[in-house]
Amino acid sequence: MDVLFVASECAPFVKTGGLADVIGAVPKVLENHGVDVRVLLPAYPALAKVLASGDVVEEYPDLFGGPARIVSVHAEGLNMLLLDAPHLYDRPGSIYLNAKGIDWPDNHFRFGALSFVASRIGLNGIKGWKPDVINAHDWQAGLIPAYLKQEQMEGVGVTVPRCVMTIHNIAFQGLFDRSVCSDLGLSDELFHSEAIEYYGKLGFLKAGIALSDKITTVSPTYAYELLTPEFGMGLEGLLQARQQDLCGILNGIDLEVWNPQTDADLVAPYSTRSLKRRLKNREAIERRFGLTSNPTAPLFCVVSRLTSQKGLDLLLEALPVLIGRGARLALLGSGDKDLEAGFTKAAKDYAGSVGVIIGYDEKLSHVLQGGSDAILVPSRFEPCGLTQLYGVRYGTLPVVAKTGGLADTVVDANAANLKSKRATGVVFSPINADQLADAIHRTCDLFADQAVWKQMVLAAMKYPVGWDRSASVYYDLYKELADFE
Ligand code: ADP
Ligand code: GLC
Repeated sequence: MDVLFVASECAPFVKTGGLADVIGAVPKVLENHGVDVRVLLPAYPALAKVLASGDVVEEYPDLFGGPARIVSVHAEGLNMLLLDAPHLYDRPGSIYLNAKGIDWPDNHFRFGALSFVASRIGLNGIKGWKPDVINAHDWQAGLIPAYLKQEQMEGVGVTVPRCVMTIHNIAFQGLFDRSVCSDLGLSDELFHSEAIEYYGKLGFLKAGIALSDKITTVSPTYAYELLTPEFGMGLEGLLQARQQDLCGILNGIDLEVWNPQTDADLVAPYSTRSLKRRLKNREAIERRFGLTSNPTAPLFCVVSRLTSQKGLDLLLEALPVLIGRGARLALLGSGDKDLEAGFTKAAKDYAGSVGVIIGYDEKLSHVLQGGSDAILVPSRFEPCGLTQLYGVRYGTLPVVAKTGGLADTVVDANAANLKSKRATGVVFSPINADQLADAIHRTCDLFADQAVWKQMVLAAMKYPVGWDRSASVYYDLYKELADFE
């Protein structure tokens, strides 16, 4: 079976969040099921070296304002099709934002082109390879079924591949002025509420949800939450109507990249049998974040985008409780300026107890997972979340809000779960600063009893967080679609 993945990021090449981790991991696991997955990805500057080692397999003299080509390349265990279109992707800085922190003004072309090219691969194949199924990830790939539908409307008997739309985060929908439709070659006939129109605008994600054969999202709880006005962000009505075709498939993590026994970024790799070695990693964190050491209280960490989704303003409010318990916090993140300023100030106010590094640092994120005692994820909503899964694998116990994938992956340290030795973390609800403060108290109490804490660490490190089970679910879904006549 042949499947085309289409996404705007892919680890380890280009990453702003969990989407990249998923795209970099799933194809490798699906290969074990005999699925031939190719990943279509824009050739950003970060991919220049990889691009140079590939073969040109397709050329477009004019793709929305400039020449483009597709380069086929195998790297990091992935078969990739890189869309090399310098006028769209060869620019410095963020892949989504310009130097002023605003969306690139031509993002509709940049990701419309990605979707258009994917649809051509679906229709015509590429070098003898033709996907049975296209899996579009997030809004950047949302127009694929629209382009396919248009082709069917225009040509009698055109066969198109089946389409799956995966929602990683419904907060990002790719909304644009209606006027760009003709620039993107989209027919007026598609501009209605059952196709690409979203309250008078062009909606990339809307199109993907409305026109794909199946819709998936990244955890069962988020699939359910998406049907409610609180989480559906305006698309809940459409999702309710398509409920039969929607399913939540829980994300996993790449067990080779995230393995505490072999992790080259750790000062001291370790296993369940050598947990004491974690202390060396903890010391490295203390040095790097300017923290004084205190073995009697936990070292909390945060590795996150700093946005309102992640609920870190609640952590700022709850910080006095954390400090009052003698605990410490190491935060690595970047994003909203007010949150960056808030945490930078906290690091000054609580020098030695709060350490903050504003920025993005993949290696440091591994060290934080390998040496902290607990990781805080107080998100207001979280489609799946990966940092709590890395925490589970590394024995950095997650303290999480009860929402989306966080609720699906962390076993709360309540009396029953502690007794049955299943507890892997602390789960709190409702999601507010008081409950977060309470969860911090509970974590400190658990830490104070080192026998209980160790039992939780061991339960966490043995908890299954890989891709095996979910990859089988994706496989079954693709198979069902591919076999359908
Ligand atoms: P989201 O995709 O919503 O940002 P996830 O938890 O799914 O949330 O994935 C975030 C990914 O990005 C994880 O791999 C996490 O380790 C990484 N990450 C987030 N912020 C940083 C940072 N500042 N430095 C390094 N890695 C980060
Ligand atoms: C999104 C979500 C996050 C999820 C990731 C990968 O960025 O915010 O919860 O883990 O996608 O699916």
